[in-house]
Amino acid sequence: MTVVRTLFDEAEIARRVEQLGGEVAAMLPKDAAVVGLLKGSFVFVADLARALARSGLTPSIEFLKLSSYGAARTSSGEVRLVSDLTADMAGRQVLLADDIVDTGRTLAFARSLLLGRGAERVVTCALIDKPSRREVDINADVVGFTVPDVFVVGYGIDHAERYRYLPYIATIDPDP
Ligand code: PRP
Repeated sequence: MTVVRTLFDEAEIARRVEQLGGEVAAMLPKDAAVVGLLKGSFVFVADLARALARSGLTPSIEFLKLSSYGAARTSSGEVRLVSDLTADMAGRQVLLADDIVDTGRTLAFARSLLLGRGAERVVTCALIDKPSRREVDINADVVGFTVPDVFVVGYGIDHAERYRYLPYIATIDPDP
């Protein structure tokens, strides 16, 4: 049986996302573009965008769908562009938002892609950082929570496509 333990509850996440919104809003112009990485960031971006709006920004929202894990729990080491942006990023100031930075490959790939598309500046924001797993030399500019090497799910993050719907973030032990 899979064991689920709450790591960050709904109230804790809401408080932290509100703080992140304020921090990030101070770094960007009013008309910045938010680019979320699907699928994992869909819940985070929804909450972060509204926090940014409360801090005075009127951002456009875009998504890139990238994938490196598939149904497996370990990275294949290769990031794939599954679905592209619908807007031109040339000359834009961009907030790149993802749910979690693990090896760093996804964030590095997305950041390069945006700069390659002509973004003037890319500020990176990750709700969760797992620095002990890093394989690529990149850190998000703004981080919500730093966690040890535990498997986390919820608030958009899956295990084999389950648990994304959980309103809180939990650790699981998939093979007890
Ligand atoms: C997960 C997560 C991050 C990425 C982090 O996405 O949402 O985007 O992995 O891992 P990394 O730092 O080792 O690259 P995944 O590829 O599983 O796709 P998903 O967002 O659709 O769940």
